[in-house]
Amino acid sequence: MAILVTGGTGYIGSHTIIELLNEGHDVVIVDNLSNSKIEVLQRIKQITSKDFKFHEVDILCKEALEEIFIENSIDAVIHFAGLKAVAESVVKPLFYYDNNITGTLVLCELMEKYNVKKMVFSSSATVYRASNSPLTEDSELGATNPYGNTKLMIEQILRDLCISNSSWGVTILRYFNPIGAHESGLVGEDSVGIPNNLMPYITQVAVGKREQLNIYGNDYNTYDGTGIRDYIHVVDLAKGHLRALNKIFDEEKVNVYNLGTGKGYSVLEVVHKFSKSTGIDIPYTFCNRRPGDVEVCYADSSKAFKELGWKSERDLEEMCKDAWRWQTLNPYGYTEK
Ligand code: NAD
Ligand code: WQD
Repeated sequence: MAILVTGGTGYIGSHTIIELLNEGHDVVIVDNLSNSKIEVLQRIKQITSKDFKFHEVDILCKEALEEIFIENSIDAVIHFAGLKAVAESVVKPLFYYDNNITGTLVLCELMEKYNVKKMVFSSSATVYRASNSPLTEDSELGATNPYGNTKLMIEQILRDLCISNSSWGVTILRYFNPIGAHESGLVGEDSVGIPNNLMPYITQVAVGKREQLNIYGNDYNTYDGTGIRDYIHVVDLAKGHLRALNKIFDEEKVNVYNLGTGKGYSVLEVVHKFSKSTGIDIPYTFCNRRPGDVEVCYADSSKAFKELGWKSERDLEEMCKDAWRWQTLNPYGYTEK
């Protein structure tokens, strides 16, 4: 199949493209490089020894995106392109709504025009109110920030599209907390500036870029007082997209799946596992809770197993080791210092 991958040079997109190429799919990447580096393309080639197409295009630019639909015979789209920083979305809501929602509308209009009505969409566990883990796909929804709202709104747009025309097939994947990197150490998460997320922060402390980890709250109602999340290896997540692709051709409707491990770890457990797996101590200090954080969030991923035959295979130790390998081999990310 020929798959158009929006946001394909990003963290999850790049890992998914490796899996797509390894399975023999043709890949056309679209990315405006707003949060990724062009150097990743060479790394993907190095790992897969396969060729693919890349277009530096903003999905809001309809004319440029249309050219890609004209030039390529696309069978399906995996739609990763979007902005994802929660705190930034609170400060710049219009930027987030425009990029994520208008971008998706432009993409869907062209998909309809060129009769490409199959999509896998990157949603997030952030769409859940997260009051009662394990969260199933039917758990109560409700976002608390503009980023989360864009995911909820896009999910609704895609549902409405599927109602409007039965030849649309959409699989919505709600990711929990992706971490880790490709086992080669060639592809990983290239955080710009101070990382917002836990694992990139830990690896930057480990490599000496940051002094210590600030743990946001040790007064949660959990066994050690720190927040609990469902960390999932990015390669397991990437593999989930291949299973999801089969589903959109199977049935012509919208399907939603959680992609998580089903197991929650506290911040302290992650810190200790990282130290044990790598032999590096992570100095930390407790500070106030981060506004907007939930206490506990982990998935019930049994639906993905039952219907897609997918489950995560890599454990927390592997996630830590792979994240660390990526960080040590690429202390400055994809660009040389
Ligand atoms: P990322 O920032 O690494 O990748 C997103 C890519 O989209 C980037 O390469 C960026 O340059 C590109 N992009 C953004 N706006 C674009 C536009 N208008 N036109 C073209 N390209 C554009 O993020 P990621 O972690 O790989 O996330 C991929 C998707 O998964 C996002 O939609 C994100 O919201 C979602 N998601 C991520 C996580 C996570 O923790 N990483 C969790 C849940 C959901
Ligand atoms: C994990 C835990 C923090 C950093 C975010 C988005 C979510 C999704 C995934 C896109 C929490 C604690 C963190 C630090 C810490 N992204 N922490 N010190 O908040 O679960 O989810 O990424 O869809 O939408 O909100 O992930 O990695 O930021 O935090 O103590 O420096 O680590 O409080 O308990 P989160 P995270």
